[in-house]
Amino acid sequence: MHVLIDRAEQLARRFFTEDASGHDWHHTDRVRRQAVKLAEREGADQNICEIAALLHDVADDKFYNEKGAGIKQVERFLADANTDSETVCHILAVIDTVSFKGGNNQSPDTLEAKVVQDADRLDAIGAIGTARCFMFAGNRGEAMYVPDSAARTNMSEDEYRRNSISAIHHFYEKLLYLKDHMKTESGFDIAEGRHRFLEVFLEQFFSEWDGAK
Ligand code: ADP
Ligand code: NI
Repeated sequence: MHVLIDRAEQLARRFFTEDASGHDWHHTDRVRRQAVKLAEREGADQNICEIAALLHDVADDKFYNEKGAGIKQVERFLADANTDSETVCHILAVIDTVSFKGGNNQSPDTLEAKVVQDADRLDAIGAIGTARCFMFAGNRGEAMYVPDSAARTNMSEDEYRRNSISAIHHFYEKLLYLKDHMKTESGFDIAEGRHRFLEVFLEQFFSEWDGAK
């Protein structure tokens, strides 16, 4: 297993050196360390969680032109590493259920899937989640905030909610919901503190925004 973990780390490191979309190895590394910690607390299989966490973004379709290409790459990697078929199935099932939007939207049915999904989502909230959100929006050329009234002029209420038009908007579209979607007790405990940070951040943000008028 340790050889496999080392190889998965090498693959993920290599993968992100070549990526220019703003995703980085450090996100994967944080998710991996968080997944190992949660696995320990929850009594999940630490090795499965660590490998799935290391590979979760390598398998993500958003990095490929062809649907399913990411998971194929991970399958090939596991086959080349002579992993037994039960372990392969387990790792692939975990990776398949990690994503909030993409993937098959399945809810995680193994403890390991719950752990890795929670670890990934924890990195989207708190101070780091806030920083990632602004990086992501900036990278796409989106504003940090578009005041409600201006944004709605050409949009229905429904369109406004569905379309992410600013980093702050993404908090209301997704980030503020993540705490209540944690799948493990230990994940929820950490999410609570990070969620409070989002609330404090937003309160301060809007008080400065309004005060600057
Ligand atoms: P991950 O790679 O962790 O599975 P995503 O690729 O979905 O997550 O998103 C990467 C980061 O960018 C996350 O922190 C997420 O909250 C943030 N993000 C995703 N979509 C948007 C958006 N439309 N506006 C701002 N931030 C976003
Ligand atoms: Ni991720």
